[in-house]
Amino acid sequence: MHCLFASGPELITIPTPTGAIRNRYRVNAVEVIQGPTPPLPQPGWELHRIEAATPTAASAPVQFQGETGTAQYTDPKAPYAAANGLPTIPATTDPVLAVIIPLRKTASWYALTQEQRKAQIPAHVDLGVPYIPTIHRRLFHSRTFTKDYDFLTYFEFRASDEPQFRQLCRALRDPKRNPEWTYIDRDCEIWLTKLA
Ligand code: HEM
Repeated sequence: MHCLFASGPELITIPTPTGAIRNRYRVNAVEVIQGPTPPLPQPGWELHRIEAATPTAASAPVQFQGETGTAQYTDPKAPYAAANGLPTIPATTDPVLAVIIPLRKTASWYALTQEQRKAQIPAHVDLGVPYIPTIHRRLFHSRTFTKDYDFLTYFEFRASDEPQFRQLCRALRDPKRNPEWTYIDRDCEIWLTKLA
């Protein structure tokens, strides 16, 4: 699946392709963790997510894109992989927050062998698994679309679970707990409220 996130100060008027999933959000805040960032939306802007079988073209002031892929380091049949987290949460119940995190890994990560890279992932998975019941997640690969970021990670959770999400991110970014993160050189968070 291809995923486009498009944002701007005005209403986003991209048509919805047949069979696409579309969600609308309001940008709450942008937090830069490290490195130069891609162009980012501003608080108050509208943001749309369009997930479709084929790429959606758009010319919004700010946009991000990526595509789902098969698991590269873990068993795609493992419960944590297939589930890909909690199902998407309807915005019509309690407030639902979403966070987009564009991430880039260093050249030294890609210079490692597949086995060496694979050896780094279990710590990440062990830290993440306890959060599966509360945090919906999607992983998109972006290297075929841009050099600004390698991955788009997308998360959804109830507003009351924000502290848990922040705790998870702190743990993943701690090189003592997750050495994989020493290979991240671009990292920022786009905080959203899901509208529909
Ligand atoms: C909610 C709990 C989480 C779980 C259970 C989880 C699980 C996983 C798993 C199983 C993979 C490996 C997929 C593969 O084999 O290719 C993975 C990859 C990845 N995750 Fe997570 N994750 C979680 C949270 C996060 C968070 C909060 C971030 C970002 C801050 C993140 C960023 C990534 C990235 C960028 C990759 C791709 C790494 C690469 O291919 O080099 N994950 N995650």
